[in-house]
This record gives sequence, C-alpha cells and structure tokens, in this order.
Amino acid sequence: MDCLQANTIYQGCALELARRFRDQTPVVQAVVTSPPYFGHRVYSDSDSRELGRESTVSDYVERLVETLDALRPLVVNDGVLWLNLGDTYRNGVLQSVPWRVALAMQDRGWLLRSDVIWHKPNAMPSAASRRPTVDHEYLFLFSKSRRYFYDADAVREPHVTFSEHSRMRGGRKHFGIRHGTPESGKLAGQINMHNGRWDQAFHPRGRNRRTVWSVPLGKCREAHFAVFPERLVEPCILSTVPPQGLVLDPFMGAGTTACVAMRHGRRYIGFELVPEYVALAKRRIAAVTAS
Ligand SMILES: C[S@@+](CC[C@H](N)C(=O)[O-])C[C@H]1O[C@@H](n2cnc3c(N)ncnc32)[C@H](O)[C@@H]1O
Repeated sequence: MDCLQANTIYQGCALELARRFRDQTPVVQAVVTSPPYFGHRVYSDSDSRELGRESTVSDYVERLVETLDALRPLVVNDGVLWLNLGDTYRNGVLQSVPWRVALAMQDRGWLLRSDVIWHKPNAMPSAASRRPTVDHEYLFLFSKSRRYFYDADAVREPHVTFSEHSRMRGGRKHFGIRHGTPESGKLAGQINMHNGRWDQAFHPRGRNRRTVWSVPLGKCREAHFAVFPERLVEPCILSTVPPQGLVLDPFMGAGTTACVAMRHGRRYIGFELVPEYVALAKRRIAAVTAS
C-alpha cells in the first residue's frame, strides 16, 4: 500500500492524490488550505484538472467539496480542516461561493465550528462605486467528528477591556484587590462570574481568540499569486496541530503552510498540481529549515 511520507510535496491533482492514499491509516491532524478561488486566476498552462476554471459556481463547489471530502480518510478522528476562501462577483452580483462551499461541506457531514473573517487591512482598492469595497475573506474551521483537538491556550489574544492598565469600571480592581479574581475578591461567589466572564477578564494568557482576524496580505516575490500570510496560518496550526503533528495542504502553492509548520515544530504534507510551484515551495521550505 502507498503510504504518505511526512515533509513531502506530491506533485499532482489533489483529488487523485487523496484517492491514491485513501486506504492508509489516518495521519493528518489538520488540513489547512487556500484553494484557487472560483474564476479568479489561472495557475497552469492547460491542465484540465486545475480547480477554479469551472464555468458555473455549482460545478466549482461540487469539485472543490469532492476534493476536500476525499481527504477525510487521511484525517484523524479528532482532526480538523481549515478552509480559506474568498468570494467572486459575476456581473456585479456576489456569488456567495464561500457559504455555498460551507453548506455543501456540512451536507457531507463535516461539522462547521467557526467562520473566521480574515480582514485584510491592505486589501487592493477596487473600482466598485455602488457597493462597499471588499476587504475580507473567510476562514472556515470544520471538524471531522463531534470531539476535536483545539488548544485555545495556544492562540489567546490580549485582553482589551479588562487589561492590567484598564481604567474601565469593572476592570481588575472591581474585585477589590490588585490581581483579584472572582474567587478571591470582594465579589467572590457571585453567580454572574461565570466561566465566560472569567475568561474574558482575567485569564493570565489573554482572552479566547475572536473570529475577526486582521492580517495584512502576504508577499512572496517569486510567486505570481497571493500566498497565505504566515500570520493567518499560524493560529490554525498552533491551535489544532500538536507539536510534531502533521498538517496537510492539498493546494500547496508556494508552500506557506509547510513553512509555518516547520517553523513551529510540526510536519507537513503538500499536494500541488503545477511542477513549477512544487519547486518554489521546496526552495521556501529549505530556507526555513536552514535558518
Ligand atoms: C491560491 S494557491 C495556494 C497558495 C498557497 N496557500 C500559498 O500560500 O502559497 C492555489 C494552488 O492550487 C493549485 N491547484 C489548482 N488546482 C489544483 C488541483 N486540482 N490539485 C492540486 N493543486 C491545484 C494551484 O496551482 C495553486 O498553486
């Protein structure tokens, strides 16, 4: 039986590769990927297996979801799939592509856990004058089963309203003593100090990560397409792939997912259709491992 090798990029069509390896034991903790968007750009010269060139939205959704669902046997039972997708306008009409894909994934049994908004503070200006300029994309988190691995502590963010220096009423001093807690302060035992409030106000590592992530677009001089910003991939890998764990990107492109995985002591597997991008990803990964 063909077995997936960690820290390897397989050149070929993601759907064909997923099928080739479907009988092996599940090894992937998280799929983290940004497939070609519907009708945005062309990556290969003439490979008909390339995704994103379909003539209708429904053909695109069907092919993408078929490919992603074919990865299910490779994912461990408590594993997840992070999917980054942007939308497409046709004749000025928004096609709702990300949500069509999310709903189709749910129909296939994937459990939608989060719809993160990736806000791009440096998004390209547009000629739109009869609607707002788009400066966001989606990052969906799906789990394969009811129980899934998620390390919230690895991706906490700074407290905002209840920081150490906050002057807002209801801040730390609210509990009577500096560094007071709901348990030790003057409001000890109050029933409205539920877990959510504790987490928001006092968790020593920060508050639970929120669903709007503001991350500037990434730059990669060698790639002729938008690469994942590393800061977008980092929280996905840190929260859902344990150290030494394995992350798969079936649309590897310039290899950003693999670079982030290596930087953080995780391992990767990549699928990529275009040989030239496989070579580019290998160069970028080699630069990370050499540093
Ligand atoms: C948006 S890019 C991915 C960029 C990547 N996240 C990065 O940071 O570099 C999408 C990639 O999917 C590849 N691709 C398109 N159709 C494919 C298919 N059927 N199988 C595998 N890869 C495919 C394209 O060649 C392209 O490199």
